Amino acid sequence: MSSPTVDVVVVANRLPVDLVTGDDGEQRWQAAPGGLVTAVAPALRGRRAAWVGWPGVPDAAPDPFADPAIGEDVTLHPVPLSTDEVAAHYEGAANATLWPLYHDLIAAPVYDRDWWEVHRRVNERFADAAAAVASPGATVWVQDYQLQLVPRMLRERRPDLRIGFFLHIPFPPVELFLQLPWRTEVVEGLLGADLVGFHTPGGARNFRWLARRLCGAEIDDGPIGVREAPGEVRLAGRTTRVGAFPISVESATLAQRGADPATAERAAELRAELGDPETVLLGVDRLDYTKGIGARLEAFGELLDAGRLDPATTVLVQVATPSRERVDAYRRTRDEVERTVGRLNGDHADLGRPVVHYLHRSLPPAELAPLYLAADVMLVTPLRDGMNLVAKEYVATRPDDSGALVLSEFTGAAEELSDAWMINPYDLDGVADAIAEAAAAVRSGDDGAHASMAALRAQVADHDVALWAETFLAALGGA
Ligand code: ADP
Ligand code: F6P
Repeated sequence: MSSPTVDVVVVANRLPVDLVTGDDGEQRWQAAPGGLVTAVAPALRGRRAAWVGWPGVPDAAPDPFADPAIGEDVTLHPVPLSTDEVAAHYEGAANATLWPLYHDLIAAPVYDRDWWEVHRRVNERFADAAAAVASPGATVWVQDYQLQLVPRMLRERRPDLRIGFFLHIPFPPVELFLQLPWRTEVVEGLLGADLVGFHTPGGARNFRWLARRLCGAEIDDGPIGVREAPGEVRLAGRTTRVGAFPISVESATLAQRGADPATAERAAELRAELGDPETVLLGVDRLDYTKGIGARLEAFGELLDAGRLDPATTVLVQVATPSRERVDAYRRTRDEVERTVGRLNGDHADLGRPVVHYLHRSLPPAELAPLYLAADVMLVTPLRDGMNLVAKEYVATRPDDSGALVLSEFTGAAEELSDAWMINPYDLDGVADAIAEAAAAVRSGDDGAHASMAALRAQVADHDVALWAETFLAALGGA
């Protein structure tokens, strides 16, 4: 089915909604997890778009449809994957090879030739689907590490298209990337695009260097600015532009939700349900080994052990969305996190008063907002993260300059949110100190803490997800 009137065709591994089967046996569509959907779906508001992606379960092949939660102007085109393809492409090549390689080898990447064969074939299927949907001369925006081979494949099929690619995760240091047995294929795949976007200038520079080293491309050596005219990579008579476009959140919508009296009322109820503690610490993440959930729990435990935080007056709430549960490293991470939660509660809780409240589930945005308001200190401690939208959501939802953000320096967000309490998640003493200091500053209404939150709120208010999409698509239009 072609979509002759769309402004942009998004191609992503997942559709913005997943097909799930409820307890009643009925199938329905539900918001898909993760930052990509959080950002790209609102960025399409007001645009006529098509979205090509996997419906989230094996062997499902529904017809194209629209979902009211995403918008009637966005046609969703499911790309079916078989059970074996989910195992080899999604759980294997994407999430056991590329994901750990691009996140600094926090887990060891597995280089499996059979997985890669399937991965290549699945990328071809996405390229075929996008080629079938896009009208002549259309703009196609390919998303993320699962589909890096698509830009080149799509250009071979449809040279008339304007093709953009955005990477939602970090692009690794060149020494690490060079481990990948299929490294040249990946760089050539991306060079099929007219514009390749990263969260940070560092990622863009690494990619540009690799294009020269691996493909013999001619490159601009100049600096790469943020949201500025991107640098050029020239190969075989074509030019690919490379730039930094930090992704963000729907700042105004979140601020509105945060300022709603009903949100404040629910936040007060939540604090009461938590036992009216003096200090609420909060973590909200996909349950992923990159998020540093273990580090924040350990640091919290050490603060309780040392008497620097009082278990009678402090609670930590950790909401963790189930993620990639069939991949070994994710199973291990879940076990470790849950063991640590159990230990901390065993050591420090009283009957009916846990020190760590742990939810292994996803919450709807309307329930996240009151949690963000209820939290005195937001803990964002990844060992590596492309951006981290949770940090920006917390800041954007706060209705005033209270609260504090503890933020890992290994997130893309750290380059913009430099007024946060910055930590190195590998330095447990430093994490513990930052948590204790941030909690004390919030408790005492410290002027410096207010000034930090004011600066963070201004940054996120001025740089929202619409700006991200507009600057990327404008640069692509000019490419
Ligand atoms: P990632 O893309 O790696 O999952 P981000 O922090 O960039 O990480 O984006 C995560 C998105 O998913 C955010 O919009 C956040 O609100 C949402 N999210 C994360 N954890 C939960 C949760 N437990 N319940 C509901 N939403 C969540
Ligand atoms: O950007 C990170 C990312 O992998 C996205 O591609 C994805 O939408 C999200 O995290 C959630 O991951 P998954 O689709 O594997 O559940």
